[in-house]
Amino acid sequence: MMSLMLICALLPVVAMAAVSNAGCGSTKACFKSPEGCTLYTDCTFFLSYVDNAEMSAVDFEMLADRSGTDGSGWAGVGFSTDKSMGSDSVVMCMKPASEEGAVQTAFTTGTTNALTGTDGLSNGVVTVTNNILECSFTRNYSINGNANFYDIESTSYYFLIGTGPITSGTPTEHEDYPCASDMKLDITSKDDIMCSDAHHSSEESNNVAIMSPAAHLIIFMCGLVMALFY
Ligand code: HEM
Ligand SMILES: *[C@@H]1O[C@H](CO)[C@@H](O)[C@H](O)[C@H]1NC(C)=O
Repeated sequence: MMSLMLICALLPVVAMAAVSNAGCGSTKACFKSPEGCTLYTDCTFFLSYVDNAEMSAVDFEMLADRSGTDGSGWAGVGFSTDKSMGSDSVVMCMKPASEEGAVQTAFTTGTTNALTGTDGLSNGVVTVTNNILECSFTRNYSINGNANFYDIESTSYYFLIGTGPITSGTPTEHEDYPCASDMKLDITSKDDIMCSDAHHSSEESNNVAIMSPAAHLIIFMCGLVMALFY
């Protein structure tokens, strides 16, 4: 019981990490999975973006629940002219098991995904706390002369949003199908993002990752402990 109370006392520390849902719908656009979830409670995935016109860039935040793994892995957002993988301009937030986190661009060709470097990216931060991967970065609208770094200001794209493992330092295929935004997204929009399974579009929606039963149990137990002791 003591250790359980300790876990519950430590929970607010997690809430101090980088990603925040303050301003969703008013100052920034947010995607939450499952729909309507609360950050650091029951969100298994979160993405937000806000136009940063001063820098000719867009500020992004992502959170991915990596429970059921050693906490390592990637979370990525791809800009796409369609809703499937291939010819997408991607930004990957990566946390290998035994190295520092990093943010890099990538480009997909069919179902392969090749890392392409850090041009056009700044302010990248990746952390993992209790198997929750969190990331923030600023992506320039475009890079002159780089056609694989899509200009997300002059053209609207579907967002592909997903998470997957890192194997021997390399990001590998997502465990679950990434979702695709229902619409092509305007970077100045603050509207909530609806994202549906890109592969089984008619069957499932808003499910990029499934919360582990262990996480549910811990939250349930914390609720119980709080109800009893506070
Ligand atoms: C890291 C290496 C990656 C590998 C090896 C990989 C591999 C694959 C494969 C094999 C499929 C097809 C599965 C099927 O048809 O049953 C697929 C689907 C998909 N992938 Fe990836 N993927 C990777 C990264 C990414 C990234 C970074 C994104 C975007 C953020 C992405 C978005 C998608 C989407 C939306 C689908 C489902 C729709 C479709 O079939 O095109 N993938 N991926
Ligand atoms: C982003 O764009 C600005 C203005 O075009 C440029 O000065 C800056 O170097 C770019 N940043 C990165 C990280 O590429």
